[in-house]
Formats: sequence, C-alpha cells, structure tokens
Amino acid sequence: MAEKLLEVKHLKKYFDTPRGKLHAVDDVSFSIEKGKTLGVVGESGCGKSTTGRCILRLIEPTSGEVIFNGQDITKLHPRDMKALRKDMQIIFQDPYASLDPRKTISQIISEPIIINKILTNKQDVEDRVHELMDTVGLAQRLVNTYPHELDGGRRQRIGIARALAMNPKFIVCDEPVSALDVSIQAQILNLLQDLQEKMELTFMFITHDLSVVNHFSDDIAVMYLGQLVEKAPAEELFAHPLHPYTKALFSAIPIPDPDDQSERIIIKGEITSPINLPDACHFAPRCQYCEENCHHGNPALVEVRPNHFVACSCVEEINAL
Ligand SMILES: Nc1ncnc2c1ncn2[C@@H]1O[C@H](COP(=O)(O)OP(=O)(O)OP(=O)(O)O)[C@@H](O)[C@H]1O
Ligand SMILES: [Mg+2]
Repeated sequence: MAEKLLEVKHLKKYFDTPRGKLHAVDDVSFSIEKGKTLGVVGESGCGKSTTGRCILRLIEPTSGEVIFNGQDITKLHPRDMKALRKDMQIIFQDPYASLDPRKTISQIISEPIIINKILTNKQDVEDRVHELMDTVGLAQRLVNTYPHELDGGRRQRIGIARALAMNPKFIVCDEPVSALDVSIQAQILNLLQDLQEKMELTFMFITHDLSVVNHFSDDIAVMYLGQLVEKAPAEELFAHPLHPYTKALFSAIPIPDPDDQSERIIIKGEITSPINLPDACHFAPRCQYCEENCHHGNPALVEVRPNHFVACSCVEEINAL
C-alpha cells in the first residue's frame, strides 16, 4: 500500500462569533498519499481555506488530528512546528496580496532561506535564488524587479518559488490560479504538475473550478458547510457523482459539445448559515431529493462504491445503487 504523507482525522475549527459558534470545519477526515494530489472543491465559505490553514497550523484547530509523516502535529510545541514548516508550505490565490510590494523578487524568494538559516553565505543564497527562478520559469533579468512590475502569472511563479525555497514535501495550493487569466492558468497548472513529478510533492489543491480539479487531482473531496459530502478517486467522481450537491456542481461545468443535452441542475435556496447548525443533513434545505428523515441526524460518509464515500441518507434511492 502506498505511504500516506498526510492524515487528517476529525478536524474541527469553530470560530466564536457574536451570533454563536461558526462551524467552519466540522469533523473532516481524509488522507493524501505521498506524491499525490487531493482536490478540495465546494462553494465559497464551505471551509476549504480554513481546512488548509488548520493543517499547516497557521490557525489552531479546535480539535482533531493532523498526522504528517506519522506524527500528530497538532500536539507539537510551536518551536518544533517551526522545523516542520519547511516541509509544509502554502501557495495563495492572490499572488499580489501575498507578496511584499517593497521587496524585489530576489528579496522575496531569499527571505525564507535567510530567516531559516538554510544558507548563510551571500553567494550561496544568490545562486539558490537563481536556481529557484529557473525552476519556476522566471527570467533571470527580473531578479531585481518588484511585484507590481510583473503580470499575475509571473507573480504566482514568485509565490511558487518562495514555497519551494525550503524543499517542502507538502503544499496547500489555495486557489492558485483563480485570479489569473485563463491562458495563464494552464501554464501555472502545468508548472505545478511538472514540479510535483520532479520533486515528489504532495498537494492539497483547493479550488472552486471543477475543470481545473479534474486535470490535476488523484482524489477529490467535495465540501459543503464545513463537512465532506463526497470523496472518491477523480475519475470515479466525474463518472459517477452520487451526492445531490456534487451532481449539481458537476452539471454546471460547461461542456464544449453543442449536442450535449445533459441538464444543468440549479441549486435552489440560500446556503444554510454555518452558525449553530442543526443535527441534520446540512444540504437538506436546498436538496431536490430531500425527505423527512434528512432533517433528523447528520449523515456520515459511507463507502457506497469501492473507494467512493458519500454522506447522504438517500444516496441509494437517488442513484438506484
Ligand atoms: N477568522 C475567522 N473568524 C470568523 N469566521 C471565519 C474566519 N475565517 C473564516 N471564517 C468563516 O469560516 C467559513 C469558512 O471560510 P473559508 O475561508 O475556509 O471558506 P472557503 O471555502 O475557503 O471559501 P472561499 O472559496 O471563498 O475561499 C466561512 O463561513 C467564513 O466566513
Ligand atoms: Mg478560501
């Protein structure tokens, strides 16, 4: 069996708000094998970024385990966490917002190398910056330019170079191409894929764009209101989406075939507030298949086909399984 690099168990993150507890991540469990990509999809506010940030302990989880390389890192002292940070990095959606506008490319990329004392000799640091710029396809002539002088694609390449500077094992890619022009998206995705192969990287790839996730992921997890509602190998999920929410999401992917007659499912109603959630299927108020018992008890993820998990008490009826 392939080696699991990351195992997330019953991860929860609740935020205290004036109106009550906001369930941003509510009992999420999954694992990612070494060198593989887990795509995480779901609409805005479903808890994708919060899950990623809790895994890296950029924010502290409320409870649950994050087992990285066999070690539960939620129990680690911040000092020991610092050493582990080298192995776990994040690439953000908006490269502009995440890059210091007063620093040159060279300063931005070298910063983690200097702060973490990976290299101390000035020439070694410069050589490493050049090497990283090559790796991500940034021309050497740009070394002393500032982020605002570059287009979105190049800025995202800086973000990637910075993440790679520490030779990480695992990267959370949080909507890394959503802010980019479509033509540039493909270049950045190809770069990430090449890097994954060369450096044996493991990715958690967060996106709301299903056409992106299909190309990129080995497995896909679908989130709704802080919970996983479906999880399966990418091909299996695209061929057989079983949860009503996933079916609706997938029906909305534009298909470049004029003869395609498949119906687009429109999700009706507002998303339920994540504050003080009832013990019921969170998707029930918007679900076209909703039955009386969907309002009683929150369904757990159950394996309904090999490696294919769904949290829906009507899944068998709906899909005639
Ligand atoms: N620091 C915070 N304090 C209170 N609530 C928060 C905080 N951070 C996130 N939330 C809430 O947690 C929920 C999940 O947010 P999160 O940013 O993880 O969603 P997301 O799936 O990444 O959305 P998007 O696709 O818009 O990036 C949302 O309801 C959000 O408003
Ligand atoms: Mg987000």
